Amino acid sequence: MGRHSDFIPWTREFEANVLARSVAEDPEWDRGARLDPVLARSVQRFQVGESGDGGNLIRKADGAGDPDYATAARLFVAEEINHARLLRNLLSSAGYETISSHWTDVIFVRLRRALGLRLELMVLSIAEVVALRYYRALRDGTTDPLTTEVARLILEDERRHVPFHCQRLRVAFAPTPRPVQVVLLLAWWLVLFGATLVVAVDHGPALRQLGVTRTAFTRDVIALFQGVAADTIGASKGSGSQPSR
Ligand SMILES: [Fe+2]
Ligand SMILES: [Fe+2]
Repeated sequence: MGRHSDFIPWTREFEANVLARSVAEDPEWDRGARLDPVLARSVQRFQVGESGDGGNLIRKADGAGDPDYATAARLFVAEEINHARLLRNLLSSAGYETISSHWTDVIFVRLRRALGLRLELMVLSIAEVVALRYYRALRDGTTDPLTTEVARLILEDERRHVPFHCQRLRVAFAPTPRPVQVVLLLAWWLVLFGATLVVAVDHGPALRQLGVTRTAFTRDVIALFQGVAADTIGASKGSGSQPSR
């Protein structure tokens, strides 16, 4: 019993962003960037993650029986592809190559592929809250202007992605019996803890350079995820969030 047309505002929101992007200047890549090797390695891993597996999500969105959601999901995937492009250009401005894969991303992509739309969005939401904290650290923790600009641009998009997934998850959770919701919620938290720990360890040296300790990073991701959990399972019968400009 999904409220299908609820995703039309998201399509408008994503389309407005496409338009804004087309008229805005791209960052001045020619000015070059200074990235410490530790930070570059960390950015390379996020770049692989951003270039991810959008086709997989689009296929599932197409199969969900809500054309409005499928349209919005395509535009969401396009934003993530643009993030991969921004990070690739940032790396190359600083004289670094991109990497073709990293084990954390391989696991993430395999996991997502094996799941249906709801579980995939649950996993994806974890990546989104981790990304929110990471790009904030990257924006605020470096003195390199190009890095700050790229992180700011990506962060602006990521802020919309979380409520977008939450809205679809509310639709998906609504018919689920409460006891199943509780089990899913527990499993969701477990995966969040695991994933956050892996990122905090794997990117620990880079985060430290950006002035964020592993503990602070983990604590902040947990706080962000509390909002996601409350906005989905905790509010599966609520009216939910629409994009806000
Ligand atoms: Fe992204
Ligand atoms: Fe995102």
